[in-house]
Parts: sequence; C-alpha cells; structure tokens
Amino acid sequence: MTSIISCCLVAVCFAACTPNQVKDSVALKEALGDKFLIGAAVNCDQAAGFDTASVRVLKEQFNCISPENCMKSEVIHPEEDRYDFTLADQYVDFGVKNNMTVIGLPLIWHSQLSKWFCVDQQGNNVSPEVLKQRMKDHITTVVTRYKGCILGWDVVNEAFEDDGSYRKSKFYEILGEEFIPLAFQYAHEADPYAELYYNDYSMANPGKRDAVVALVGQLKERGLRIDAVGMQGHLMMNYPTIQAFEESMLALAATGVKVMITELDLTILPRPLQNTGAEISDQAAYAGEMNPYADALPAHMSDAWNSRMGDFFKLFRKHQDIVSRVTVWGVADCNSWLNNWPVKGRTDYPLLFDRQHKPKPVVKNIVTSAGIK
Ligand code: XIL
Repeated sequence: MTSIISCCLVAVCFAACTPNQVKDSVALKEALGDKFLIGAAVNCDQAAGFDTASVRVLKEQFNCISPENCMKSEVIHPEEDRYDFTLADQYVDFGVKNNMTVIGLPLIWHSQLSKWFCVDQQGNNVSPEVLKQRMKDHITTVVTRYKGCILGWDVVNEAFEDDGSYRKSKFYEILGEEFIPLAFQYAHEADPYAELYYNDYSMANPGKRDAVVALVGQLKERGLRIDAVGMQGHLMMNYPTIQAFEESMLALAATGVKVMITELDLTILPRPLQNTGAEISDQAAYAGEMNPYADALPAHMSDAWNSRMGDFFKLFRKHQDIVSRVTVWGVADCNSWLNNWPVKGRTDYPLLFDRQHKPKPVVKNIVTSAGIK
C-alpha cells in the first residue's frame, strides 16, 4: 500500500522525465496524445518486466494501460477473507513508474468471478443483503487501495445480452437491476475522484446500445456518477459496419458521457459460432480449417486488415471530441487472447504490432493522418 502511494507521488513529481526512447518514427502517443488517450492491455509478464520486447513497445507507443487479467475478482480476491494484490500492485507500479494513465477493471463482472462471490458454502445463492455487503467490501477494498493512482474503473462489465435484456448473471438473479447502481454508488464512495465507466461488447448492436443508453439515463437521474461508456471493440472483418459503430458512438455520447474504445482488436479468423460477441465462455473445438493462417497472413488479407483497422481509427479521429480513450487489447499479435478464443491454439493477427513487435502499416497511417510525419 505505502509503496503504491509513494510511487504515485514520485510519478507526479517527475512527470516531465521520460525514459530514453529507441525508435525511428513518431509514436502513437505523440500523434494522438492531444486527441484521446491511447492505451494497451498489459499482461502479468509485461507488468513484471519479463516480456522486454512488449515493454519497449508499451513505453514507446502508449500513454495508458489496462489490466488484462490481474484485477479480475478470481485473481485479486480469491477467497472471501483473502485478497491477493501481488499482480495488481505490480501492474499499477508499472504504469505509475512509466508515467502512464492507469485504468482499473472490472469491479463487477460475471466472468472470471471468484467462485465464492455469490454463493454460500453449500453453493446456494446468498441473500440480497449478503451479496450487497460482499460487493461493497470488494469494491471498497480494491478501489481504496489504488486511490489516486487509477484514473477510472470499469465498474460493471457486460450486464446486458445483445437484445438489450439483462444478462441473467448471479448478480442479476440475486439483486435484480439494482446491482448496477449499487456498484456505481460503492465505487464512488470509495474514491470520489475516480472516473466510473460501464463497459460492454457488441455495442454496435441496436438492442444493446439502446439498453446502455437507457442505463446511463437511469444512473444520471439518480445522481450517480458515470463518466464514460466503454465499447469493447472486439471487431471482425465483416462485423460490425463502421456506420453501425458510429451510430452507437453518437447515441452514447448524446447521453452526456464520453465514449471509450476499451478493448480494440480485429480478428481475421473465421468464427465457429454464430455470435459476434465476446462472451468468454463461448468456446468451440479446434479444427484445422478454422486456423487458415497458421504460418503467415497472405498479403491481400493483410492489406484488408490494415485498411479496416485504419478506417476505424479514422472514425475515432472524426469523433475525437467525444472519444476520451482508445485501448487495444494487447500489445503484439503473439499476446492476443484471440489466439485462444473462441478456439484454442489458433494464430490470429488482431493487434497493431506483429509477432516481431514491429508496427503494422496501419500504425504509420494513423500517425500520418493525425497530421504528424
Ligand atoms: C480476456 C483476457 O484477454 C484473457 O486473457 C482471459 O483468459 C479471458 O478474458 N472481454 C473482457 C476482457 O472484458 O476482460 C476479456 O479478457 C476479453 C473479453
């Protein structure tokens, strides 16, 4: 605890010092820094400094980080009376020491949820009162620990189905819709200065978009703080359309919150399942034909990928007045969760840096179109 706080103070005092940079072109953070934050999800090897190639890219290119897994409840709060802050402390220290904006996530999410969180020792759902108390303890403990170091938190992640109905998670089963405002209330009480976000995938889908627009209105009506909505941005080559994504960005911003693209990646692989979402429990068996680019990506596919990713960045730039952050979900292709979801053991090419940690052509285009050569 003390070490985290002193790190924060050191970072504030020495904010003007940047590490020596070894690169031959303008970095993403230099090109985009005055428009919106440009972030990347960091895994535990990177936060610990073991993955030196990715750490170099992170320091050179990004001014913001999100924790890929280390703050999920099963990691940070594995038993009711035991928190494990080892990896989360390392993550926050990494960001603070490198003068990056640090994001925290997720406080309440149905996936990667500690087994004990919503049930008693017999495995039955706990009462609403018990769950409220557990949510309050969890949120208060985690948010308080990193107070002053974290810009903002994904308070609730993925509470809706694609059609806009509430996901039938344990939180919803036990507390109904009320679990969302309660989570926002507890987070705000723990750190009144932290930004608070709602985050979800498939946000270009009208059903989900309308549900989230309504949620923001309800939270605001009740006087609760919500600063931004995160559109995860797990994109496919044929879904969603830029137009649908743009319509959702504008509908969300019209509620008075900022829009963040929080988990950007663009898969080039076929989807075995009919869905277009990012529910992590949706998994399918490996089959050779589902892994068509195991050795390399053909040039025409690479061109199509770079062009589509570039179009999305053009969209983010077009609406830079409402976009507060764009975060890619990983540093280099070899790090991406999409190599193992929804099918384990595939080779995907979804991120801005390739397996050699070299920038893809789209990076140069993003920098150039930002007006910096
Ligand atoms: C993913 C991580 O990237 C994987 O390493 C992990 O095994 C599963 O979760 N939506 C989210 C993220 O909100 O937290 C998920 O991250 C991807 C989908």
